[in-house]
Amino acid sequence: MANLLDQLAAMTVVVADTGDLDAIRQFTPRDATTNPSLILAAAQIPAYQELIDRSLRESREAVGPDAGADAVVREALDEICVTFGKEILKIVPGRVSTEVDARLSYDTEATITKARKLIGLYNAAGISNDRVLIKVASTWEGIRAAEELEKEGIHCNLTLLFCFAQAVACAEAGITLISPFVGRILDWYKKSTGRDSYPGPEDPGVVSVTQIFNYFKTYGYKTEVMGASFRNTDEIIELAGCDLLTISPALLEQLRRTDGVLERKLNAFDPAPTDARIHLDEPSFRTMLTADPMASEKLEEGIRGFCKAIETLEAQLAHRLAELEGGAAFGHAVHEIFLLNDLDGDGCITREEWLGSDAVFDALDTDKDGRLAPEDVRGGLGAALALAQSA
Ligand code: E4P
Repeated sequence: MANLLDQLAAMTVVVADTGDLDAIRQFTPRDATTNPSLILAAAQIPAYQELIDRSLRESREAVGPDAGADAVVREALDEICVTFGKEILKIVPGRVSTEVDARLSYDTEATITKARKLIGLYNAAGISNDRVLIKVASTWEGIRAAEELEKEGIHCNLTLLFCFAQAVACAEAGITLISPFVGRILDWYKKSTGRDSYPGPEDPGVVSVTQIFNYFKTYGYKTEVMGASFRNTDEIIELAGCDLLTISPALLEQLRRTDGVLERKLNAFDPAPTDARIHLDEPSFRTMLTADPMASEKLEEGIRGFCKAIETLEAQLAHRLAELEGGAAFGHAVHEIFLLNDLDGDGCITREEWLGSDAVFDALDTDKDGRLAPEDVRGGLGAALALAQSA
């Protein structure tokens, strides 16, 4: 009997949801997706320190010898996202998703400018637009930016998508692909109802993606649906047949180790009965989003979390730049991370206080005690940094 991953790959494009190049190599996915938390997590892996250092050096060259560290770090953020993307594209035959700075999520013009810059970096490396999806948060402003980018031939992946209104607005804007977040929807319902689990078919994230998929296929929208943010394999099994699913390495491994018969649940050629067709303008989009507390809270929280990941990475980069350029104290970067995350000031960052992703928390919490002490964060800055410090 075939394993679940092989059967899934026969009906859905399987995508790796990680910036860890070794993990991508293990699963031969067609595409891969990154986000700020995943780039931050990948940046903690000692084997990739050289990629970070190279990006910092190239950024220094790009902004010039007299520019301040802030300018180098700002440039390096874009360079690093694209550097990981370029490495990923050496492994996958399809597309990589690279996310625009989440701090621009409510600024249409700034999002367009940043997306053009990111695609320009890819193009300069000989990579064509059809191998890249620029990820943009599914705010009204983000969707308008993506609509313009699509007209310019820059393909977009609209992320942090939690509800039907966001999906419909993306489809009507002619967006290439959307990433509805299954697991974060489940997280919200578990927390708000006190339930500790939902059977796969009743999982509210699964229900949401199923509704969006059937609606798009019924009315002939070309926007691809890529389920994202999975918490367990049941959610994935219930979405077999979706256009694409982006899955973490841990869940890809579970699917690969599990034998059984995988049934198609979604069928683009025979969609299940769906909602009446709607058209959304800005007021109706905002009304529907506001009426859905899960979607509005998760969208805000998601943007905040990605901003926090970027700020943490910036603090680390600033320190590494100082190291590379013969400057300042290691402790400064750790201090900055504590300023950002240690909300009660007790000298430890708990999982509740940590505004970044679980993946980064887990990467830093090497002793697995559920708390980040300064030495955990210091260790997480990378083995090369630690070596440089002790030298
Ligand atoms: C992928 O595109 C998403 O950014 C990712 O699946 C989010 O997953 P998470 O909810 O586990 O952070």
